[in-house]
Amino acid sequence: MLIEPTTSIGGEIDLPGDKSISHRYAVLGAMACGTTSISGFSRSRDCESTLDCLRELGTDIQRSDNGIEIRSLGWERFQQPGKPLDAGNSGTTIRLLSALLAGSPFASTIQGDTSVNRRPMRRILTPLSRMGATILAQNEDYPPLRVTGTQLTGIEYPLPVASAQVKSCVLLAGLMAHGETTVVEPIPSRDHTERALPFFNARFTRVNQHLQVTGPASLEAATMQIPGDFSAAVFFIVAALLIPEARLCLRGLGINPSRTGLLTLLENSGAEFETTNLREFNAEPVCDLAIRFSPEVLRNFPPEISGEWLTSMIDEIPVLAVLGTRLDKGLKIRGGEELRKKESDRINSVVVNLRNLGVRVEEFPDGFEIPPNQQIQGGKVQTFGDHRIAMAFAVAGLVAQEPVELDEPSCVSISFPAFFETLNSIRG
Ligand code: S3P
Repeated sequence: MLIEPTTSIGGEIDLPGDKSISHRYAVLGAMACGTTSISGFSRSRDCESTLDCLRELGTDIQRSDNGIEIRSLGWERFQQPGKPLDAGNSGTTIRLLSALLAGSPFASTIQGDTSVNRRPMRRILTPLSRMGATILAQNEDYPPLRVTGTQLTGIEYPLPVASAQVKSCVLLAGLMAHGETTVVEPIPSRDHTERALPFFNARFTRVNQHLQVTGPASLEAATMQIPGDFSAAVFFIVAALLIPEARLCLRGLGINPSRTGLLTLLENSGAEFETTNLREFNAEPVCDLAIRFSPEVLRNFPPEISGEWLTSMIDEIPVLAVLGTRLDKGLKIRGGEELRKKESDRINSVVVNLRNLGVRVEEFPDGFEIPPNQQIQGGKVQTFGDHRIAMAFAVAGLVAQEPVELDEPSCVSISFPAFFETLNSIRG
């Protein structure tokens, strides 16, 4: 697919439902007894993987006009799957579903595609084993995971990595365990699970870095609404900041502060945007956001991102790198080893593709550095089957000197099936 440069974009963006939140409400809906209705549910392939796995456990899930309906007898009545569960490309699916399998009294297997099967799982195996489950993995770290579930026991678990998937895995297992399960979180990561738990009647408390659930929990069905996905919106936000005369409006955008680190930095750097109609969907803050071309940002954006800031924008780094090419102070990412463990090795995917497009960049084990004020020339991009690499470099194509060609554009459906239609709809 060829992405042609453009000199203006404008209009309103139809955002997909938040992928992270969709996974969580689907899992909690399946664990709860009764009929859960979720509107605005993501149509991403990742979330379809979660729904298919939950169906294998005996849950009835149907698409409705604007979302899904889940009918379940609750987690105590999950059935042994007749075949290995398939998490597809979704790290969130395999890490959250593993908790459900660990707490169910049967043997099961879960695996994913070649990308997921290369991603580290020891980070969930350690706490789930301490809670009582037996899980075998390839080289003690990689899928397929062969799980022998059992009645779990609550633990206190300090998180060794800043990971919302690991945190959520332990909290979900804690709902099925006897006693209290406490997760200690040194660096805050996205907190959608914590915000959702009370809506499903779970007992959840948070004191500073200590997050606690009590099990075994009697979860009740709920009616939930999914905000627009900030991590999908950000491709258009970055495009608007770089294209003269750009003006975009994003309605129903989720702005949970644990996700919007990049928006805060852009605002502090002088990005011209306006948030209106602030509201909440089941404890998730939502707004309408109007944004336009903001050359100030290129002068003021901070030259180095690391630590907590990085965690709050972990999925935004590929598109931030595209913005980074144009910044007056350049852009350095450090402390981002985790980026190498995503759908692709995102440090390498970013570096290879910036170079493919004629941009100078230096690679480090934990990040990269882009020298200031460069033009993106154009050329061929390897997506590595990674949806966020494909979308980030499609944005690069909008602002490049020459067209950008993506080798495998269909991977955008992992999170945002209508990405290219949306991109075409705003071209000037
Ligand atoms: C996610 C958490 C993050 C993020 C991923 C989605 C989630 O991963 O990168 O895209 O839904 O919990 P980690 O938990 O590995 O940091």
